[in-house]
Amino acid sequence: MDKSPEHDLDQILSVGIDAVLLAVNIIMPAMDQSIQEEYKGKTNPVTKIDRDAEALIISEIKRHFPHHSILAEESGKDTNDSDVLWVIDPLDGTTNFVHGYPAFSVSIGVLIQGIPTIGIVAEMPNIKLYTAIKGQGAFMEGKPISVSRTKRLIDSLLVTGFGYEHGESWHKNMALFKSFTDKTQGVRRLGAASVDICHLASGKVDGYWEYDLSPWDSAAGIVIAEEAGASITRIDGKPYSIYDKQILISNGKLHNEMLNLISESL
Ligand code: IPD
Ligand code: CA
Ligand code: CA
Repeated sequence: MDKSPEHDLDQILSVGIDAVLLAVNIIMPAMDQSIQEEYKGKTNPVTKIDRDAEALIISEIKRHFPHHSILAEESGKDTNDSDVLWVIDPLDGTTNFVHGYPAFSVSIGVLIQGIPTIGIVAEMPNIKLYTAIKGQGAFMEGKPISVSRTKRLIDSLLVTGFGYEHGESWHKNMALFKSFTDKTQGVRRLGAASVDICHLASGKVDGYWEYDLSPWDSAAGIVIAEEAGASITRIDGKPYSIYDKQILISNGKLHNEMLNLISESL
């Protein structure tokens, strides 16, 4: 890759952090106000804050990198065809945010030539900034983080999420929720995928899976998790790409045991 300013990883990370923090600064004050919600599906909410945060993030990125490409949850893909792609979830965990439940985030991942390379997640409302550049480690508030060392499922705490659609994969996940709850110390369901992944990266949970993700839910988290030592595949064990809907992430040590229990349970 060339060393042009367009591909300067430190500069991209720095602009990404500024964009995330601008969004945090409009999301946090809105937490206690009554939020006007609309629905993209039966139970899939979007608020003015999601859209305002996204517009702010995009304008900050465009100010520095007008030629970079952008894929954002509320406005879709722009028309640029740069090999640098910013993948933006302006507010991950909107349902939590609307209810004042304390687990939501801003999540920005950057792919370079298709490879997830930079991840930035600001967990809210108890703000924790998670960052990573591929090959350079993962950090929370500037301090290195790593996945847990738990070796056995029976000693583990897991987390999962359920998408808004209640089709076949929702039923499969209900089955997995039951099996993993039986074989571990517990399975949490927090409601913000990027936060779940950062909790895995920082050793708070030992494994995470989900069936119905979009690229913006995972693009930042997977760089942070990988740099923290996580193993990442699809739930069926195949290699994962952010364009897959299903994902399985573990601390590495539990990956085979999780895959085995998944194939026994489905
Ligand atoms: C959702 C959250 C949730 C996950 C869903 C996502 P949104 O994102 O990350 O935890 O289970 O699959 O769609 O809609 O709040 O940005
Ligand atoms: Ca999301
Ligand atoms: Ca969102």
